[in-house]
Amino acid sequence: MVSPASRKSLLKVRVMDFITSTAILPLLFGCLGIFGLFRLLHWIRMKAYLRKAVVVITGATSGLGKECAKVFYAAGAKLVLCGRNGEALEELTRELNTSPATKVQTHKPYTVTFDLADPGAIVAAAAEILQCFGHVDILVNNAGISYRGAIMDTTLDVDKRVMETNYFGPVALTKALLPSMIRRRQGHIVAISSVQGKISIPFRSAYAASKHATQAFFDCLRAEMEQYEIEVTVISPGHIHTNLSLNAITADGSRYGVMDKTTAQGRSPVEVAQDVLAAVGKKKKDVILADLLPSLAIYLRTLAPGLFFSLMASRARKERKAKNS
Ligand SMILES: NC(=O)c1ccc[n+]([C@@H]2O[C@H](COP(=O)([O-])OP(=O)(O)OC[C@H]3O[C@@H](n4cnc5c(N)ncnc54)[C@H](OP(=O)(O)O)[C@@H]3O)[C@@H](O)[C@H]2O)c1
Repeated sequence: MVSPASRKSLLKVRVMDFITSTAILPLLFGCLGIFGLFRLLHWIRMKAYLRKAVVVITGATSGLGKECAKVFYAAGAKLVLCGRNGEALEELTRELNTSPATKVQTHKPYTVTFDLADPGAIVAAAAEILQCFGHVDILVNNAGISYRGAIMDTTLDVDKRVMETNYFGPVALTKALLPSMIRRRQGHIVAISSVQGKISIPFRSAYAASKHATQAFFDCLRAEMEQYEIEVTVISPGHIHTNLSLNAITADGSRYGVMDKTTAQGRSPVEVAQDVLAAVGKKKKDVILADLLPSLAIYLRTLAPGLFFSLMASRARKERKAKNS
């Protein structure tokens, strides 16, 4: 009779014999090697894609846009930095030009100053952008403003202002740059949306609406541009520690001026910019850069909408109560 303990050790020996006597180990190492090689090739392709690419970044004066400028610059991209504040753009250019040397060859950025909420300025701005390096490879529609307020207190002008900056501005700029991309059959449009482009949170109506519209427009664009080999990436971050809530507008159009706790506790824009660079380099189509809770909320909205709506109503009640107390 063989005892259970010796049967176990016999089995162990047989398994080890099988592993060492057959081709399993070489096969395992072979698979790991192929996987590693595949990753390396992917990484090399990504680096090559970004090096010397002409990248336009809107909202480069602050927060995520500014950090994107730094990571794309370090990756060797030829930058066109856009914003409303020309001085801030020049200061960023000086900072980039004097940053420590990297292995990758870097390029002196250009700046183009214009207001995305001014439809009349965009065609001229696009022409100026195209003159910088002769073409555009990647447009990063990053600029945006947020909003805090109750729908019933908010003037339609405020809704329009948020839509102009977050939706119509990027759409107009994209349309103005697309013909040259189509001619070259090459280009990449990136939209920095938000988790609020996928789910709507009470007292953020104008912002959530503008980001839902962004998601919808750029999803349509992706399908329509496939024939020209033009890539479209929509990136939806959760909270990022930037000035977004400070710069948000309220129901009457005045500046909110508060650093919200959620924004203050958000991810560092430096890290998010690295994720944006990777998503663009890998030509991802749709990326959510958020923690577990907002990511779950997106699934909940699709799979159990009734429950999601109850949670949002309860959130609205709580916020109203806190405001009135
Ligand atoms: N922070 C977050 O929690 C968060 C989360 C999800 C998504 N996002 C998105 O990330 C993007 C960047 O925002 P951020 O967090 O970096 O905020 P931010 O620090 O306030 O930066 C916003 C940028 O947009 C520019 N901008 C605003 N209105 C403009 C206009 N009319 N014309 C041209 N430029 C304009 C600002 O320029 P000025 O310096 O001239 O004001 C600034 O450079 C936005 O699309 C935002 O919706 C942010």
